[in-house]
Amino acid sequence: MPQLPIASTLEDLRARISGWRKDGARIGLVPTMGALHEGHLSLVRTIKSHADKAVVSIFVNPAQFAPHEDFDRYPRTLGTDLEKLAASNAADLVFAPSVREMYPQGFATGISVGGPSQGLETDFRPHFFSGVAIVVCKLLLAAMPDVAIFGEKDYQQLLVIRRMVADLNMPIDIPGGEIVREADGLAMSSRNAYLNPQERVVAGMMNQILRLIANHARNGRPIADAEADGRQALLDAGFSSVDYIAIRDADSLAQITSLERPARILAAAKVGTTRLIDNMPV
Ligand code: PAJ
Repeated sequence: MPQLPIASTLEDLRARISGWRKDGARIGLVPTMGALHEGHLSLVRTIKSHADKAVVSIFVNPAQFAPHEDFDRYPRTLGTDLEKLAASNAADLVFAPSVREMYPQGFATGISVGGPSQGLETDFRPHFFSGVAIVVCKLLLAAMPDVAIFGEKDYQQLLVIRRMVADLNMPIDIPGGEIVREADGLAMSSRNAYLNPQERVVAGMMNQILRLIANHARNGRPIADAEADGRQALLDAGFSSVDYIAIRDADSLAQITSLERPARILAAAKVGTTRLIDNMPV
């Protein structure tokens, strides 16, 4: 298998990218937290249609985990991640920094994005988007890519990053990558590894319920009623708790009462102790 270069320091990352840039290459960045699956790999392949060189970052970002969340047990599988990336033939460089490299001693800077970060995930993970925004901003400043891709799996995150990049006048395109799903429709996620066999069956119902509720809304069921049906359907399917199931404006995530503009259905719910999210167009 071909050797994939790995940079673990910002200095090394910058040196390698500046070499490519001098040759006139367009640089693409795929930020990840590792434990790579087909969803991540499809982003790497897609970015190659937007850029000459694909840089994949692998960094489990402590700033986006609350103290009670799964930072310590988040899967870290760098060896197999590198094998998958090498086999994809699409990645050109991996950036895998340490926490200390990304967050220097005394780190004290924050980024707060309003707009699409309000509500939904923020109601349940208030720390989350400030943690994502700071690390993505740092990764973009380090790699200075022409394009960086984020999956629609984390739809609110994609909109928050687009908002930040526009507001900070960063000259970077932010395409979205389509959600890659398992055979039963479960959106691929590194956290699916936490599910036991019974929970895995329940997890596979989320996308089916979202599709059903989106259909009902399209067929005239009032949005608030469709959302209430969806919550009940998730609980009936065996989800232990439902954080939200909501039909929102697809561009702003604002609440809506009719489907005149493009809309999106988004949900977050727990199976046992594992929190899953998914979304799709309405
Ligand atoms: P992570 O969960 O590793 O996801 C990395 C990227 O892969 C994100 O853009 C995410 O939306 C995308 N992705 C995950 N599962 C996917 C699927 N099934 N189909 C398509 N794309 C999928 O999201 C993060 O990491 C972090 O918040 C990060 C942006 C790296 C900042 O730390």
